[in-house]
Amino acid sequence: MTATLFSPYTIKGVTLKNRIVMSPMCMYSCHNEAGKVENWHKVHYAARAVGQVGLIVVEATAVTAQGRISSRDLGIWSDEHITGLKELVSLMKEHGAKTAIQLAHAGRKAMVEGEIIAPSPLAFDEHMRVPKEMTKADIENTVQAFQQGARRAKEAGFDIIEIHAAHGYLINEFLSPLTNKRQDEYGGSAANRYRFLGEVIDAVREVWDGPLFVRISASDYHPEGLTVEDYIEYAKRMKEQGVDLIDVSSGAVIPASIDVYPGYQVRFAEQIRQGAGVATGAVGLITSGLQAEEILRNERADLVFIGRELLRNPYWPRTAAKELGVELEAPVQYKRGW
Ligand code: FNR
Repeated sequence: MTATLFSPYTIKGVTLKNRIVMSPMCMYSCHNEAGKVENWHKVHYAARAVGQVGLIVVEATAVTAQGRISSRDLGIWSDEHITGLKELVSLMKEHGAKTAIQLAHAGRKAMVEGEIIAPSPLAFDEHMRVPKEMTKADIENTVQAFQQGARRAKEAGFDIIEIHAAHGYLINEFLSPLTNKRQDEYGGSAANRYRFLGEVIDAVREVWDGPLFVRISASDYHPEGLTVEDYIEYAKRMKEQGVDLIDVSSGAVIPASIDVYPGYQVRFAEQIRQGAGVATGAVGLITSGLQAEEILRNERADLVFIGRELLRNPYWPRTAAKELGVELEAPVQYKRGW
């Protein structure tokens, strides 16, 4: 059988050797609150490159120190972060993977000391702090921080940049009416709530002409929240601004329970792909080669993002290939035993 999962995919001049993407996953492994690449990151990400993942998306990496989920997050808020990231990129590339980084700001979900910021002064839940409502200057500075993060990502040699606009972090907080109660031009209508993301995309695009992904939460799972229909409209705007692929996740904007089952977010990736005519990535409880192949063959998404299954098994691509009857090239060192 020929498998689409193992066919190359070219996006804006970058060719992935297969459609398997390692989903961004925070490792919370930085020392001394420095946000720098450690041995853990090198071992962890390089192992998935050896495991034949086509594209590795490095975990949510904070564009400001204040925008970290925890003090152990990876950071890209200073030029001092570039060296470590460069090393990480070259390790992953050496083993045949293409590389992406997820640029992030945690907004009201930041759990670091000092002031935390968000579009509106509403806490996520009773255990979290109330953020400060962002001023125009805060907004401008944060947009600039995303741009500087993109510039540093480029200097580090990443092939692709992904903007984190999902899971109830800062950008998502602007998009959703549940978390954005602003009275100015950044709140109210859908167009106004999109303004912050729009500015971030434009700012990133000024310094980055490579492939650009945006991760979204396609449903707030709340009657007054955003739905996939809203995100089809947002996806059209993103496409117009030069976003190449929407990485379609869901939830975590507010504390809502989600009915989780195999491929539970795939329908969103499919609806956005069809509704907005934009490439999408599917993610969420995709654990087998057959399941991944089904998604691609039925044109429900262009890439398949694998999270936890790649934590359990760094050689998941090999497992999936066997399942699909595909001969997968082994790293030369492993040829005799593959
Ligand atoms: C995650 N997830 C996540 N998502 C994201 O956009 N940025 C991130 O940094 C993280 N961090 C993270 C850490 C860990 C340990 C896990 C398990 C998950 C979500 C992840 O990328 C993925 O979307 C979900 O795990 C669902 O996919 P799987 O795991 O069912 O394949």
